Amino acid sequence: MVVEESKTSSRNTLTDSITSTRITERRHNPDEKIFFDSFKIIKVLGSGAFGRVYKVEKKDTKKIYAMKALKKRNLILKNHLSYAVTEANVLKASNHPFVLGLHYTFQTPFYLYFVLDYCPGGDLAFHLANKGTFTEDEVRFYMAELILSIQYLHERDVIYRDLKPENILIDETGHIKLADFGLSKEGISNGKIARSFCGSPAYLAPEMVNRKGVGKAVDIYGLGVVMYELLAGEPPYYADDIPIMYQNIKKGKMKSIKNISSKAKSLVTVRKLLIEKYKKNIRNY
Ligand SMILES: Nc1ncnc2c1ncn2[C@@H]1O[C@H](COP(=O)(O)OP(=O)(O)O)[C@@H](O)[C@H]1O
Ligand SMILES: [Mg+2]
Repeated sequence: MVVEESKTSSRNTLTDSITSTRITERRHNPDEKIFFDSFKIIKVLGSGAFGRVYKVEKKDTKKIYAMKALKKRNLILKNHLSYAVTEANVLKASNHPFVLGLHYTFQTPFYLYFVLDYCPGGDLAFHLANKGTFTEDEVRFYMAELILSIQYLHERDVIYRDLKPENILIDETGHIKLADFGLSKEGISNGKIARSFCGSPAYLAPEMVNRKGVGKAVDIYGLGVVMYELLAGEPPYYADDIPIMYQNIKKGKMKSIKNISSKAKSLVTVRKLLIEKYKKNIRNY
């Protein structure tokens, strides 16, 4: 689920060659006119508070894409239009192997559309639900790629603010693509903060719960939370009752993860490295 002001809904070494060859190719003809009718809808891939994501085929090239449709009326009613504009801006400006590529944008009277890389591997929340947990090797692999995607955004003064397994997609080669920039924020240089209260309850950072404003450190915390969930099967501070969960988040009260190596336990160290330390550094990161 996502709260706000916001949406509502509760293996190998990374080498330069991977990085340089896997950047999304998006050199489309800028004069080409794109309409809803340019695509054939194949199926629904996911839905959220503002619309749906479809698997589509571009009729002329037969290429497969994901098409995210955002309902303008919902965006306006929930005061979320600026978030959709930011999502488009960040996606347009990004070109990184682990960030979802945007190919086209267009609109109809009722919807805004983003035509995106299609990720046939689904999202990590789906895989977590099937597998329960990931192995430490798998977690190391996904986290390495996720860290690179967040580093890329932070270097451009973009904070992501919505790290959670359902926003991490798996492409056709098994690598990740970070998706869903609906809560991201531009212009957050080191030391700057964004004041909106937004995110999904189980994934909120303490400074968000405390409504103190968040900077880049919010995503460092998010990396820790995702890492914990991939290993443990549920987010670190999870409780059915949201106020209790917020108390857990504020107090840093998490369950220890069973059946993991001592190295990974130093991951409760996730807590020491990524959660407690950031609190001290929050103003100067
Ligand atoms: N490019 C894509 N390829 C495959 N599945 C996708 C793609 N984009 C989104 N999805 C699916 O749709 C879900 C919702 O998309 P997302 O962009 O996160 O929208 P929302 O803002 O509603 O959360 C994702 O969690 C994922 O399961
Ligand atoms: Mg999402």
